Amino acid sequence: MKKIALTGIKPTGILHIGNYFGAIKPALRLAEDYDARYFIADYHALNTVKDPQTLAAHIREVAAGWLAAGLNPEKVIFYRQSSIPETFELTTILMAFTSKGLMNRAHAYKAAVQENIQNQVDPDGGINMGLFTYPVLMAADILLFNPDVVPVGKDQVQHVEMAQDIAQGINFNYKGEILKVPQAVVQADVAVVPGLDGRKMSKSYGNTIPLFASEKQLRKLIMRIVTNSQAVEEPKDPETSQLYLLYKLFADSEEQDALATRYREGGMGWGEAKEELFRVANRELSPLRNRFEAIMADPAGLDAILAQGAAQARPLAQITLTRLRRAAGIET
Ligand code: TRP
Repeated sequence: MKKIALTGIKPTGILHIGNYFGAIKPALRLAEDYDARYFIADYHALNTVKDPQTLAAHIREVAAGWLAAGLNPEKVIFYRQSSIPETFELTTILMAFTSKGLMNRAHAYKAAVQENIQNQVDPDGGINMGLFTYPVLMAADILLFNPDVVPVGKDQVQHVEMAQDIAQGINFNYKGEILKVPQAVVQADVAVVPGLDGRKMSKSYGNTIPLFASEKQLRKLIMRIVTNSQAVEEPKDPETSQLYLLYKLFADSEEQDALATRYREGGMGWGEAKEELFRVANRELSPLRNRFEAIMADPAGLDAILAQGAAQARPLAQITLTRLRRAAGIET
């Protein structure tokens, strides 16, 4: 039997090429070897996205984005967290086994408190219980489906460890393997994608290239990438060029070597290097963009895919939940 991989995708903004190379592509690669369950963590997004139109749009765009990028819903169980009510019952059970102290130690919560202290406002200011208990909901997402591995970014490893702690507490109390203890996997070979200003591409830096930018917008953004002031004729070092790092993500190895040589020879200006980046980026992204637009143009089709995923996921969730309800004496 194949091992199970599960991950959640928080729909808090439009997808950018940092998400594509840092999370989407590695997760799709993993789905070739694992039974994958990937879901849109819409109730996690609700903690921060309070405008209904915005939240609804992000949910659809992010779901369509993963499908456009190649997620095959016939192979991956792909669903919305909010379609699995068992998640929220499991959360309530997990709460009874989660110490408040564990939540106090969560990095994301601690960072929010620190920021308040720095700004000399109430330490709890702006922090809702959804944020405080975020790791419990995430543990429920995970433990409901018995995954072996949970692919995540570095910032989420602590949350997976908390899910391990909570599962172990429950197994210890009920003297059995009621819940499977999962492992976090942080893919080692994932590239850091530089943003327009040279820092890591991140929504919070405002330096992103949207994954589904139009051709025109894509070219415009690439032309805005910050470079140094070296003149056309000067030889340039590809290894210290953010532009070249981005190029490598899209180009095959022959193209990479050829462009590196042109950098080193001199005679190529940044404008030309940007044109070359645009060419390979657009080559990879234009089929994605077309698929994305087709999926977004067929809302009923998208709903049907997510409903099919939910229909596959719920019976699996019910098995785990029933096992735990029985172990707890809630169900006899
Ligand atoms: N917290 C994750 C993030 O911010 C999203 C997420 C929610 C998740 N539930 C999950 C990831 C379960 C892995 C497993 O990116």
